[in-house]
Amino acid sequence: MAEPLRDQGGPRHVAIIMDGNGRWATNRGRPRLFGHHAGAKRVREVVEACPSVGVKYLTIFAFSTENWKRTQVEVAGLMSLFRRYIAKETKALRDRNVQVRFIGDRIRLDAKLIKLMDELEQSTEHCTGTNLTIALNYGARDEVARATKRLALDVRDGKLDPESVDVETLPRYLDTHVLPDPDLVIRTSGEARISNFLLWQSAYAEYEFVDTLWPDFSAEEFGKLVGGYGKRDRRFGGVKT
Ligand code: FPP
Repeated sequence: MAEPLRDQGGPRHVAIIMDGNGRWATNRGRPRLFGHHAGAKRVREVVEACPSVGVKYLTIFAFSTENWKRTQVEVAGLMSLFRRYIAKETKALRDRNVQVRFIGDRIRLDAKLIKLMDELEQSTEHCTGTNLTIALNYGARDEVARATKRLALDVRDGKLDPESVDVETLPRYLDTHVLPDPDLVIRTSGEARISNFLLWQSAYAEYEFVDTLWPDFSAEEFGKLVGGYGKRDRRFGGVKT
């Protein structure tokens, strides 16, 4: 097995915007959902590749707060895909020692999906290998707004001194409060946009925008991008010494 990269300065936390499923399907004359199903297979491949490339945390953008604007057929198809994926993958994820968490607002999700999400989180909470976080009905601005509301309620209830609020305070209220910040954010399909993904958390992340459409993304390409990260020089706003 390859030497874990984290010992050589590789990214501990990689976040991925999995884009291009629709175009991949359209290029083949197939419905967009065909692309999402093909994309789900890549999720499995990339999750499995994490230990060998030293990635301890993987966060994937599965459904954004803006994705509700898609057609009813596509939204319903994606929700059905998430339900099937969770039901089908739970055992394999647990056997691979993957701890799964969901981030995002559950409010608009249907009860059956929420139940499956809860069960998957509970049945993998003892796992100590890869930390897989699935962003579902997630938007960074929505997350910051929800966090700010909770923070304000704690101030109101006397649990938080407003004078003590600093840059360490808000992250404790974000959905990602138990996760380290991403070191590397990858977006597939040639679009160079962040699209409301982990805005606070990615302040110092490196970005890789690759042309590959998500259903064509491979463990090999993932490994190359992760390996390339180790060659970058991160200064966190400081100067090179
Ligand atoms: C973006 O491609 C992709 C999505 C909105 C859905 C991502 C979902 C998956 C990869 C399915 C599996 C996920 C899990 C967690 C099982 P797009 O439809 O915007 O592509 P386009 O830009 O080519 O139209």
